[in-house]
Amino acid sequence: MSTAVRNIFVSSALPYANGPIHMGHLVEYLQSDIWARFQKLRGHNCTYVCAADAHGTPIMIKARQEGITPEQLIERVSAEQHADLKAFDVAFDNFHTTHSDENELLVRRIYEALRKAGHIYTKTIEQAYDESEKMFLPDRFVRGTCPRCKSEDQYGDACEVCGATYSPGDLIDPLSVLSGTTPLWKESEHYFFRLSEFGDRLRTWIKSAALHQNITSKLEEWFDAGLRDWDISRDAPYFGFRIPDSDNKYFYVWLDAPIGYLASFLQLCNRRDDLDFDDYWMAGSDKEAYHFIGKDIVYFHTLFWPAVLEGSGFRQPTSVFAHGFLTINGKKMSKSRGTFIKARTYLDNLDPNYLRYYYAAKLGPGMDDIDMNLDDFVARVNSDLIGKLVNIASRCAGFITRYFDGRLAGTLDDPELFAEFVDASEKIAKHFESREYSKAMRSIMALADKANRYIEQKKPWAMAKDEKQLPDVQAVCTEGLNMFRTLMVYLTPVIPAVAEQVQKLFNEGPWGWQAAGDPLLDHTISKYEPLLTRIEAKQVERMVEQSKEPEATGDDDETGGGDAKSPEITIDEFAKIDMRIARIEKAEPVDGADKLLKLTLDLGGETRSVFAGIKSAYEPKTLEGRLVITVANLRPRKMRFGVSEGMVLAAGPGGEDIFLLSVDAGAEPGMRVT
Ligand code: MSP
Ligand code: ZN
Repeated sequence: MSTAVRNIFVSSALPYANGPIHMGHLVEYLQSDIWARFQKLRGHNCTYVCAADAHGTPIMIKARQEGITPEQLIERVSAEQHADLKAFDVAFDNFHTTHSDENELLVRRIYEALRKAGHIYTKTIEQAYDESEKMFLPDRFVRGTCPRCKSEDQYGDACEVCGATYSPGDLIDPLSVLSGTTPLWKESEHYFFRLSEFGDRLRTWIKSAALHQNITSKLEEWFDAGLRDWDISRDAPYFGFRIPDSDNKYFYVWLDAPIGYLASFLQLCNRRDDLDFDDYWMAGSDKEAYHFIGKDIVYFHTLFWPAVLEGSGFRQPTSVFAHGFLTINGKKMSKSRGTFIKARTYLDNLDPNYLRYYYAAKLGPGMDDIDMNLDDFVARVNSDLIGKLVNIASRCAGFITRYFDGRLAGTLDDPELFAEFVDASEKIAKHFESREYSKAMRSIMALADKANRYIEQKKPWAMAKDEKQLPDVQAVCTEGLNMFRTLMVYLTPVIPAVAEQVQKLFNEGPWGWQAAGDPLLDHTISKYEPLLTRIEAKQVERMVEQSKEPEATGDDDETGGGDAKSPEITIDEFAKIDMRIARIEKAEPVDGADKLLKLTLDLGGETRSVFAGIKSAYEPKTLEGRLVITVANLRPRKMRFGVSEGMVLAAGPGGEDIFLLSVDAGAEPGMRVT
């Protein structure tokens, strides 16, 4: 390698500590881990950090729901996340948390610097306030009807149907997700960062960062729309860092989250003599710094973050790399289809190397979404990793052990062919460097094809039958094994655990990239042990089965879910259930159905037909006039006997023991149940 040793800081986006790592997250962590491993393999000083993103309202609410403190929640979740990532061979040099002393220290330092430089001001704004929960509501905690397309039940910041963006105050009939009540509008003083003054400086940074075309075109849109100052504060109750000199204001999670990259690095510097925080992160640093992120968080990383760093005397990232989103079988991950696959569920069924390779084979430098078609996954991994790659070693190693006591020949059978494998080194390295992993994998697999064709032609298994040809067998298998070894050096960042096994096979220590160019000759290898086995379609099917969660309860003809424990839902999901009081106008048996009654419900001016599996428990006539609770926004279901337009709530094991939940005490049909 002719280039000088580089000093490189690399980060992955910090996972929110409120849920398990899933296959979508892994796009991020595997892409960045491969890059950091590649840099280290090339001999550079590369430091790769991450942390738990611990603050914010969702984490506070989730902890409250579980009846634990936010600290307990983030500790449990981030330990699980870190363990899952480790099991996927994601090798952070440090994994910290944003809820740490190091982070609070840096947040204060950056905030004070921004304030001193005049980049912060306060302003009174109006915000949605939930009177019953006694808290201000983040945009996403208000839902209502989109002001543009009139779609119901949209978030307070954007409409998922028409794509409009707005503020919660623009929603028609806004409701608090927490309590279902109509929010009030209340004034509160907030702290703002003057992003609007950073336009020119950001443009300069954007040029120097050589961002991918995908990102720069997004940025152009945002610049055209105009940069608006950024609200960096939130009112109590909030889980985060308190703003100095205020008693009930906290830093917005997105202010302290990216500072978490630095905090994780700082913690590492405190235990490593060879790393100096200021060297890497103060203005004027000559080190390189890169953030890997997903396309959903580009705004935070290419506008807010570089402006905050510049405004506070820190250096800016050398560049920011954004990837697209994962789809499975062409669609968004889905619990009901079993494609919302958690890292843990994957690990229970499959070897992480398969996924590492598959994502590498799919990933490019841009923000295009990547699709994991599960059949393609099985076919691709079996064909490339087993059929092409491992096959080279398994066809050659046995002969070396059996006939030559594990000794490789002193010369290669075809040095020119081997030279082709070595010559590809810089091209492949360039692909890794520019995050063109799919191109790197294609080059490597094309060479694997070549190696297989060579072995196919030479047929060592036929030669071995003739004692006179044994020296040729040794030379051919030495050639084959060396081609395999060179390819494995190139693949070390992608499938590091396999690379380690291969180093054992060759009786050698950890490789550097240059090992690819030095063939192993006259050297004793170990007995070949199978490196990877084929994926069976059954393993993938089982993983999908284990990932399936019904989207809603309800078997077609009957009530009663037995004792099955329902999957956990979020308060957002719960808030989607529109429960109303209804009066049963009419209850009648249904011809041909032993369990069903047809109920005609009055929902306060609106009449609905609902089929309910309660016949075994109720005489129809006794039901008429009763007030019950219904789910009013259940999608109508076509049943054998007609369309059911809702559901009535009941409890009990079934048979005669089904108890309709009745209501009296002043309730009126149409009232919302909260
Ligand atoms: N906590 C923030 C990041 C703060 S960085 C200072 C966050 N967390 S996250 O847990 O939601 O996502 C972590 C990373 O995973 C992000 O880069 C995000 O883009 C990525 N992905 C989450 N779901 C994903 C897919 N379905 N597909 C690909 N990447 C995905 O955002
Ligand atoms: Zn809309």
